[in-house]
Amino acid sequence: MKTGEQRADRARIPGFYRLDLPERHSEIARRFGLDDADLAVLRSGASLGWQRADKMVENCIGVFGLPVGLGLNFTINGHDYAVPMVVEEPSVVAAVSNMARLVRAHGGFAADADDGVMISQVQVVDSPDPAAAVDALRRSRARILARANAVHPNMAARGGGARDIEVRRFDEPFSMIVLHLLVDCVDAMGANAVNAMAEGVAALVEELTGGRVCLRILSNLADRRCARASCAVPEEALAGRGFAGAEVAEGIVQAWRFAAVDPYRAATHNKGVMNGIDAVAIATGNDWRSVEAGAHAYAARDGHYGSLTRWWRADGTLHGSIELPMAVGTVGGSTRVHPTVGVCRKILGVDTARELAMVMAAVGLSQNMGALKALASEGIQRGHMSLHARQAALAAGAEGAQVELVAARLIRRGEIKEAAAREVLAELMREAGR
Ligand code: MEV
Repeated sequence: MKTGEQRADRARIPGFYRLDLPERHSEIARRFGLDDADLAVLRSGASLGWQRADKMVENCIGVFGLPVGLGLNFTINGHDYAVPMVVEEPSVVAAVSNMARLVRAHGGFAADADDGVMISQVQVVDSPDPAAAVDALRRSRARILARANAVHPNMAARGGGARDIEVRRFDEPFSMIVLHLLVDCVDAMGANAVNAMAEGVAALVEELTGGRVCLRILSNLADRRCARASCAVPEEALAGRGFAGAEVAEGIVQAWRFAAVDPYRAATHNKGVMNGIDAVAIATGNDWRSVEAGAHAYAARDGHYGSLTRWWRADGTLHGSIELPMAVGTVGGSTRVHPTVGVCRKILGVDTARELAMVMAAVGLSQNMGALKALASEGIQRGHMSLHARQAALAAGAEGAQVELVAARLIRRGEIKEAAAREVLAELMREAGR
């Protein structure tokens, strides 16, 4: 973690959205120590390069670009962060930044995260005596851990490694034993390492159980590696656009209750949370499908799919919290392969996977707060209108200054559609030709 002084003015860049792209680049170069090469990487939509891409997936035919937005105003545990977010959806970056500013004015987010413990699963079937097999595995804990750690000595050298085992027995509807290796991956996400460890202990597990090992793979329900964040905002600070603060706070709590009881709503509520978290996962080179899978499985951990966040009112203050598995790394995997990830990491300035997990939890909570605040007051559409109008303008072929002109006319017409944008664009061209 950087010192407060090193981090001074990292999070707050007032009026950033009003600057044009070159001005934003000068601002971030100065604040985050970026050089011309870094800025060139950010400008180039395909900085990965197709030769490198070709080494990443099979049948590679090209490279796909997405916008990198900067989530601003984050104060987490007293430290400031500007958070790079890779996302195609309008409003996501604006919403997190606005809510983070509100939270920052009232002390910022508090966050914490577990050690980087992943679960690796070994499935055992056809064991002749399941009770004896369970017992044998439990008694052989030290041998199993030693075998797992021998597969990945580097992890132990970095202060991690296989720490413990769990043995689970299923009888109905299918009989099997499942061995869990609990592996502290420290700053790596750790998928490859824990998969290798599961494979490495398989022969020993067969010997101990007399059964047959089938699957040997990590679990994406990484519930030993959770991150949490919370915030508290005085209700009067939520007032605006004709809504009293208490009214907005009550609306947010009612919206949360909706997600808590109804899986149909919870899916959308959590999708909003993941809008922010996935965007940071992508910007930092992490496996966002793994984070997604863990989040949704965790949301259903009580046998009922519910909300990843919680909102409540107490003494004139709105309180919010979030908890979810956060299997992310700052070393290994693709975190060092993608040049844009490298620049995003310079901007974000996190030192450890735990610190990254805390930032991501705060981003998820902030995103959820933005969505619920909008839904509970003026509704989501109004805030989205100008961004959707710009997208419609771009889709219709508007370029440069035309984009804002077309968007403004679409909003006046109250018709945010690509076909209408094409008409407006043609109209503008006719006027320019006159
Ligand atoms: C849209 O991408 C996300 C929201 O639907 C989330 C929510 O409804 O809470 C706005």
